[in-house]
Amino acid sequence: QTGQPRAADLLHWYDRHRRVLPWRALPGERPDPYRVWLSEVMLQQTTIAAVKPYFARFLERFSTVEALAGAPEEAVMSAWAGLGYYSRARNLHACAKAVAIAGRFPDTAEGLRKLPGIGAYTAGAIAAIAFDRQEAAVDGNVERVMTRLFALEAPLPGSRPEIRRLTQALVPADRPGDFAQAVMDLGATICTPKRPACALCPWMLPCRARDLGLQETFPRKVRA
Ligand code: ADE
Repeated sequence: QTGQPRAADLLHWYDRHRRVLPWRALPGERPDPYRVWLSEVMLQQTTIAAVKPYFARFLERFSTVEALAGAPEEAVMSAWAGLGYYSRARNLHACAKAVAIAGRFPDTAEGLRKLPGIGAYTAGAIAAIAFDRQEAAVDGNVERVMTRLFALEAPLPGSRPEIRRLTQALVPADRPGDFAQAVMDLGATICTPKRPACALCPWMLPCRARDLGLQETFPRKVRA
């Protein structure tokens, strides 16, 4: 194992391999909080491929958070139909109303966390991506990356607080939003559950699981 993982190595990889996604700002552009929020809620339990057409249709029908807030409940539910987990749509609408009344999105993870349907993961993701806050966004993909990187023996779900701390400690002060999305892309394309492409990984050298040849065995889980 060679040294500590550095955010800069991951960001350098991201600059060359970032996935182009409709809710992502182009390099140098400011991300739109409405698009970031909408995409993160849609992506909570749904794949990118399934989300894309819904994301486009939502923006056509509800071009701003105010438009969404003012739309009838049935219009929101019908635009969501097919995406599943319908409490997300109800929370989305309630959240839009709260933001419209406040006149802006909260711009901290703590403030975002208070909105309906926004948990720790989504709050961290929006705060980092839309508002440049030094926050971690830890979902299942990020858990896999981090447990491998540190060969974390403690099993899920009890290890979550430790994984959060390890992730948070890596978040750079500059480009925290790119960092969050880079870890997501790494988990989706390189550090996959089966047969991870370690040879292409920007964190191959500092990865402890890889050093042990045990990358596929992480994350450890409590036996059901
Ligand atoms: N999954 C959840 N949020 C995502 C994002 N912003 N980019 C890629 N995958 C994601």
